[in-house]
Amino acid sequence: MSFTVQQAMKTLKRNDRFRAAGRKAEQYLLNGIEACFDLRYNITTRWSDLTPAFADDEGYGPVSYPGLKYIHKRVGIAPREVLVDIGCGQGRAICVFSREPAVERCIGIEYHSSHAEAARRNAKRVRGRTAPITVIEGDAAEQTYDGTTLIFLFNPFGEATMRRTVERIGVSLLKDPRPIRVVYVNPKYEHVLAEQPWLTKTDAFEIPNRVHRSLPTSVWHSAN
Ligand SMILES: C[S@@+](CC[C@H](N)C(=O)[O-])C[C@H]1O[C@@H](n2cnc3c(N)ncnc32)[C@H](O)[C@@H]1O
Repeated sequence: MSFTVQQAMKTLKRNDRFRAAGRKAEQYLLNGIEACFDLRYNITTRWSDLTPAFADDEGYGPVSYPGLKYIHKRVGIAPREVLVDIGCGQGRAICVFSREPAVERCIGIEYHSSHAEAARRNAKRVRGRTAPITVIEGDAAEQTYDGTTLIFLFNPFGEATMRRTVERIGVSLLKDPRPIRVVYVNPKYEHVLAEQPWLTKTDAFEIPNRVHRSLPTSVWHSAN
């Protein structure tokens, strides 16, 4: 009886122990890739399992480095962009975007103090930074958003906080009408954005990746 490689792989994949080992190997590979990027940028932004401090927190996990690159290509950076990462975690996204010459400044908002501290540390040491980075420790729903033009969220919190945060962004636009864009990765509560008369959905895509989990993302523009 002949037994092809494909048949052997099929048999192995049906085996639970093989599947578990495969998942572990994949996780090691992912961690290795992320660690290499961290080294290149001279920062530390690994996944951490800090317990969320309040019920409406969706947990920590950075967008992968290739994912950030994909977003950059797809969404683009406007001249003198002021980027805010709402729920910046350890600051990976703000560090990566602070190296873009068109970016005027980056702001990270993070309510978890140990993450905010890590983001500040990373902001100081990121290699190739051209824009200043400010990390604000606090609740995103209590910030002002003045001057921001590119708003980035990777599913940081639930619907209630999302609603309060979007309201704050709306107030900032009323005070100072300007074009803004919102990039919402894993947009679980995008209906909150859809309810705002001043926002229009202009793009929706999956961040493709062979190794990492692909992530749905939506992009919104203000009417101004
Ligand atoms: C999924 S992580 C995203 C990390 C980061 N944006 C990145 O891509 O590297 C979400 C972060 O939002 C933070 N967070 C959750 N609720 C928050 C709130 N109300 N205000 C500020 N940060 C919050 C969490 O502590 C966590 O670090």
